[in-house]
Amino acid sequence: MSVTAGGKATARAHANIALVKYWGKRAGAGNVPAAPSLSMTLDALVTETTVELGDGATDEVELDGVAAGPDAVTRVGRVLGELRARAGSTSTRMACVKSRNFFPTASGLASSASAYAALVTAAAAAYGVELSPEDASRLARKGSASAARSIHGGWVLLPGGDEAGPDPAAEPLAPPDALDVAMVVAITDPGPKKVSSRDGMTLTAETSPYYQPWLATARADAAAARAALAARELPRLGELMEQSCLAMHASALAARPGVIYLRGVTLDGFLLVRELRRGGRSCWFTADAGPHVKALCARADAAQVAAALGALPGVTRTLVSAPGGKAHLV
Ligand code: DP6
Repeated sequence: MSVTAGGKATARAHANIALVKYWGKRAGAGNVPAAPSLSMTLDALVTETTVELGDGATDEVELDGVAAGPDAVTRVGRVLGELRARAGSTSTRMACVKSRNFFPTASGLASSASAYAALVTAAAAAYGVELSPEDASRLARKGSASAARSIHGGWVLLPGGDEAGPDPAAEPLAPPDALDVAMVVAITDPGPKKVSSRDGMTLTAETSPYYQPWLATARADAAAARAALAARELPRLGELMEQSCLAMHASALAARPGVIYLRGVTLDGFLLVRELRRGGRSCWFTADAGPHVKALCARADAAQVAAALGALPGVTRTLVSAPGGKAHLV
């Protein structure tokens, strides 16, 4: 990609769901996960971000038409500051950032992953900084670790832990069509405001007696999932996805006080996915730092899995997404 310092650029990036999750950061700076993770990028969930350089005294950030709070402005400012440093004398101008989520209305989903991947892609172009995909992924990671994966499409590995090196970038493992699958997302009632993933994983790392065992499990699961993906073994990948999800939540539940993202409806969804599997459907569950149920399915089974999850009391709607592509300028 060749880049000119036009001062304004727009980019799109897709959200991703970790099949093998990370939970907890490595000690030190740089927002590096303590364990590797492996994700699928989602075609249906898109963030579009425009960055325009201006003459303001500070950066301005607008999310879905509303001025962002101080935390988000600080995090975004850190990413923009790195790009200004790389642009050197060519730009000290502040930026106006406008970001919009093209997620189904009131889906209850938010994605820092697609947001920071789109931000880095648009801001690099606006400042005229040429970034390799590896460099874009590293910078996105500093905004939100899962965003490092949304720079790439398809199936993506983000290294973590001591073996990841000082400044890890996500690595694309396979293109979107490597497996004929879809992700069903069953959106549940939002309920009370959740603990952010950042706070939840910090508390888990600091207080959970299951945190160290979780890290060991996560490393082994990531290696096994990588091998299963390379062999295109969907059932094995699906089993590892369930295992990783349950182990992550077990470590969080054992924090003091326990970090509880799962709701009754989430567990009902997990059990239903297993029942559907016993009935012959290819589907496996996961859940992140929230109550929504996600099911990785053979594409041919996705509509039936979505219908079954959609009929569960407490599920407000479902969406089905194919694997998606990489972050790009528009
Ligand atoms: C459960 O990467 O969003 O989705 O870097 O603090 O923004 P920050 O956290 P983030 O946490 C993701 C947690 C997870 C697991 C995963 O995506 O691997």
